[in-house]
Amino acid sequence: MIKPNPSLASLIHSASAGVAELSGRAARWRAAAPGRVNLIGEHTDYNHGWVLPMAIDRYIAMAAAPGVPGQIRVRSLAMAEESSLSLDQLHTPHGDAWMRYVQGVVAQYDRRGVRCPGLDVAVVSSVPPGGGLSSSAALELATAHLLEAVTEQSLTPAERIQASVQAEREMAGVPCGIMDQTVVELAESGQVLLLDCADQTAHSVPLGSQAPALLVIDSGVSHSLAEGAYAQRRAECEQASALLGVKTLREVGPDQLARLKDEGVLHQRAAHVVAENERVRDAVTAIEQVDWDRLGALMTRSHRSLRDDYEVSCGELDLLVELATAESAVYGARMTGGGFGGCVIVLVETDQLEPVADRISGQYDERMGWAPGCYRVQAGAGAREICAAL
Ligand code: GLA
Repeated sequence: MIKPNPSLASLIHSASAGVAELSGRAARWRAAAPGRVNLIGEHTDYNHGWVLPMAIDRYIAMAAAPGVPGQIRVRSLAMAEESSLSLDQLHTPHGDAWMRYVQGVVAQYDRRGVRCPGLDVAVVSSVPPGGGLSSSAALELATAHLLEAVTEQSLTPAERIQASVQAEREMAGVPCGIMDQTVVELAESGQVLLLDCADQTAHSVPLGSQAPALLVIDSGVSHSLAEGAYAQRRAECEQASALLGVKTLREVGPDQLARLKDEGVLHQRAAHVVAENERVRDAVTAIEQVDWDRLGALMTRSHRSLRDDYEVSCGELDLLVELATAESAVYGARMTGGGFGGCVIVLVETDQLEPVADRISGQYDERMGWAPGCYRVQAGAGAREICAAL
């Protein structure tokens, strides 16, 4: 069964009610930021390659009211938790892992001269947590927009993205690329974002009204990018570049790749990146030509490469892709995000969405003993301040 999707208005309403309950004052500021899926272009961003993500119509919404001076109190309705952050402790990582994303952004703004006053904040989310849909980037950018509303000071979108990426790297300890925060900030409704991660130029590519549906299936295996495998992949790419005498793997073509053929794992990692960059460009052409068979085939090939060469998939994700691609109404499927768990995305004929989701879910449940979460996602707009209670 496809999970229901609460509207942004209802999320904002809950966050506003949450902060009123927490502080005894009406919500004065509101902001929201979407999660994202990456259509194709995985583990290419930190290699200065190309990615093709989109924001989804699932959000983190925040509402705030003035609070006690020197302190930010945050109630997460999603996790039924409350935490507080002393504003004179901005640079010591907070004990609650989720709070570090808020803290990291507040600290980055502070460094840029934007000082946060005492605040009470409530957070609600319709982004599945731990599912590789960038709930962390959504929390960072929602915090950024909220802070700007509170302080009436604005950074540029590029500065906001940079502050969020730095918050993630420094506070959460993940040496991430720029894809997640960039798409969460810049996405436009109905479009995917072709992002060149070398010079950070972004072009929106319309999906068009005839595009098949996108189904997200959460394997239920929670991933943790901080565990080291992500950083290890990044280091392997750097080693491969050094052996080839290039700055990044973006510069490498098939001929140069052959020079790594005796380097085992390093050859595998580089082979993925080189081919994945090519696939991103092909995927854009496929979308422009309304060729969904081609787009689907590229997605499935991307998954195999992530499974076999880059080795960031896991049995559960592979099973979901296998079950999905056995369906005749499915064009293609792949894991999305950093990997080691999280979600797959499935490109599927819109009128077959429900039965396909039910069959995959049933078969997965039989094999694994638990039903995966199924979500339909559509390309939504990026992070923003919400001016009134919608
Ligand atoms: C995570 C990171 C991104 C990107 C992906 C893999 O989501 O935050 O920067 O590297 O993994 O494509």
